[in-house]
Amino acid sequence: MYPEVADIKQISLNNVDSSMILAQDLIDLRGTTLVTAGTALRREILPLLHKHKIEAVWVKDTSSPAKPQINREITTVHSLISTATRRKMIQTMQNAFRHRGSIAAHLPCLREAIDEVIQELSKNEHLLIYLTDLRSTSEYLYGHCVDVGLFAIVIGMAMGLPKEDIYILGIGGLLHDYGKTTISEAILEKNGPLTPEEFNLVKNHAAAGYNILRTETKVDSRIALMALQHHERPDGRGYPWGITSEEIHPLARIVAVADVYDALTTDRVYRPAVAVFEAIRTITSCCGTQFDPKVVEAFRKVTVPFYIGGAVRLSNGVAGAVLRINSSNPSRPVLWTREGIVNLLHEPDLNIDAVV
Ligand SMILES: [Fe+2]
Repeated sequence: MYPEVADIKQISLNNVDSSMILAQDLIDLRGTTLVTAGTALRREILPLLHKHKIEAVWVKDTSSPAKPQINREITTVHSLISTATRRKMIQTMQNAFRHRGSIAAHLPCLREAIDEVIQELSKNEHLLIYLTDLRSTSEYLYGHCVDVGLFAIVIGMAMGLPKEDIYILGIGGLLHDYGKTTISEAILEKNGPLTPEEFNLVKNHAAAGYNILRTETKVDSRIALMALQHHERPDGRGYPWGITSEEIHPLARIVAVADVYDALTTDRVYRPAVAVFEAIRTITSCCGTQFDPKVVEAFRKVTVPFYIGGAVRLSNGVAGAVLRINSSNPSRPVLWTREGIVNLLHEPDLNIDAVV
């Protein structure tokens, strides 16, 4: 079972105080538990830890919750990153994927790319995922990996993850489908049903990516885990292992949502893109079964399901047009209707049933 990364932090034993709660069991070199998770780190416990040469511990973090968002009614949603940065990232990904076997050599470039993305995101007043970029299907793999990295970062930020986890999450998002470099393009882009053998080959990309990334000693193990577990599901019906809920690494649970959202909203050779509204509805309907509810909650906070100016139909049958997006809850915008302006933020009984 993995701890929730958003809720814990590592702290030097010198800076521990008695109000802190241990987040992970402390074990000695023989595997014997010294102190169990959930214990308050009282002063009398510290000599035992010093005796076992433990220098740092993981404690529950109550200091950095996700920032409360001030709502703004906005009429323009900017792209998360510039076209130039996106192109540069795709180039970086092409270089990394085409020189298989030497991913560690590309890690500084990937980290630099993520750094640039995080810097751009930090200048963006409202971190909202709005329109998906148009891209040619031949570039699907690279464009998809860039988007998954980007969306995962935005979801991770909405969950209040520490900065270092955001970096790892971004790189893990970029490399989550690295195992697909072992599959021929003819299978990946096949315009028709896959044979059972081909399907198994495609499904094997998760384990293949993990194995390649694990052989690279400089790759953080969490990055390899995101490649391995991004098709696992809380209900145990995912692959390759069919593990459940907390057995799936928290960062992999974020990549899982970003992956499906991007895949659904992108045109493929074998099916057209699904409307953003429908994609969000699909992900929400799989909350708890296919996706971690906490991740879905954060995802919904940062994803705009409607186009500004787009027509919608309300649950009371009234038609309307999206006037402004409420930045704190993009699923509940301000609408123009024949009956006047309706702010769904203040109308809990009304819902948008359909995008017309
Ligand atoms: Fe995948």
